Amino acid sequence: ARPSWSIRGDVVVVGSGVAGLMVALRLSRFARVLVVTKARVDAGATRWAQGGIAAALGPGDTPEQHLADTLAAGAGLCVEEAVRVLVNEGPDVVRELAELGARFDVEPNGDFALTREGGHLRRRIVHARDATGAEIERALIAAVRSNDRIQLIEHALALDLLPADDGRICGVSLHVLGEGRPDGVGAAVGRAVVLATGGLGQVFAATTNPPEASGDGVAMALRAGAEIVDLEFVQFHPTVLWLGPDARGQLPLISEAVRGEGAVLIDVTGERFMDGVHPLAELAPRYVVARAIVERMRATGADHVLLDARRVPGFERRFPTIAAACRRFGVDPVTTPIPVAPGAHYACGGVRTDLRGRTTVPGLYACGEVAGTGVHGANRLASNSLLEGLVFAARVADDLSGGLPRAADPAEREDEKVTGLLAAGAARRIRLAMTDGVGVLRDADGLAVAGERLAAEWTPDLASLPAEAAPEPESWEATNLHAVASVLTRAASLRTESRGCHWRADYPETSSRWHGHLVSVLNADGMV
Ligand code: SIN
Repeated sequence: ARPSWSIRGDVVVVGSGVAGLMVALRLSRFARVLVVTKARVDAGATRWAQGGIAAALGPGDTPEQHLADTLAAGAGLCVEEAVRVLVNEGPDVVRELAELGARFDVEPNGDFALTREGGHLRRRIVHARDATGAEIERALIAAVRSNDRIQLIEHALALDLLPADDGRICGVSLHVLGEGRPDGVGAAVGRAVVLATGGLGQVFAATTNPPEASGDGVAMALRAGAEIVDLEFVQFHPTVLWLGPDARGQLPLISEAVRGEGAVLIDVTGERFMDGVHPLAELAPRYVVARAIVERMRATGADHVLLDARRVPGFERRFPTIAAACRRFGVDPVTTPIPVAPGAHYACGGVRTDLRGRTTVPGLYACGEVAGTGVHGANRLASNSLLEGLVFAARVADDLSGGLPRAADPAEREDEKVTGLLAAGAARRIRLAMTDGVGVLRDADGLAVAGERLAAEWTPDLASLPAEAAPEPESWEATNLHAVASVLTRAASLRTESRGCHWRADYPETSSRWHGHLVSVLNADGMV
């Protein structure tokens, strides 16, 4: 839709999780920053992150060991240079967060208290009980709110990236709603745009992700011509509270840290099953545990397994958020094993970037979950996500500090039409198609059916509107979900092997032929 107002800064940041707020704070040292965010500033996935941030801070630990664990979890597809950046720069950004006011748990001597999670051979996870993301978000929001070089625009759904005459991205169109000001359709314009829009878990019917995680950044970048990488690698968290076969939407996470503190997995007959599967048993890399759980569910004919946390000392004190979530659904984790099953959790790929956070489109940067930096390969190591957001946000700001691009205005588009938007109701059907055919265990038939169901939703002519129209935000979200689902399904169909969190029943082995990355772009017909 045609913007009726515009706001100008030096850099526009889209998204307000750990990556968006960190990049804004760093940029504010030399630029005026506009942060636009889809709901309230604290609504995204960061505040739901439980476990913590991984960094080599413990006695005897080194970035080299963190590197080795990350590469092992990534199943051969990590970009090693990017992982080196992550593990080497990680400890300093965690210290910076603590200096900014994030209150992490500490030992009596004042050192960070560290826990373990899957795939880590060391205790390496800095945490704030079981609500680490919420504590980080609190500290970052306080810093952003007291910084007069950062302007925050809430309830602003980003619609599309706006190129200048020379093709550089210089802004984003927005639909501001509800309590947001100014309201209606407008534009935020700057010298560069940073996407920090988070993940895409809402493309599935059941996920740990909040409602905001609808893949908007990937969809916008795709429409702007950017390369998207590794989208088939959606990580399914092994232990999501099981609320019945028809549970939908955002489901409560049971952090890996619960296993890190001693909880074990048992099947519905009470038998442990991780011991013979991997030397690290319950603390194997995440995809190994998720696969073993699905196999055990199939063997027992059950749709869940159980996490026995009765042996975890001081459960209530260490995991108050999880204890409360379980009790809300009638499970007391202190006395009863917790029913769990894998659920869609994290996008390992995203908008392809280099080590400075630059995407393949000039003027457009990405950091955090929306970015495909290559640090996660085919499966992210636990608690490397908040870390990636922080480290690469700082790198984006460093790159821009070398000289901001010159100011530009969005190019005029005379014959602008809002085309190709799906009706809001498509979202539900897209999510079901993805859960049925592109979930934790995939095969060619299921992927083909999902592809057909997605294709059947594509009726753009029905939704061609004049430029003045302001379509419902739900329509944009459905359209974004559709774009992301289509790329993901296509990539998952093409990759005829199992690797990391991409698991194919019809191609159960990892193949050296597939030791590479799938990159998706839109062609001139608007097809992937
Ligand atoms: C968890 O606490 O298990 C989630 C941490 C993560 O996704 O890295």
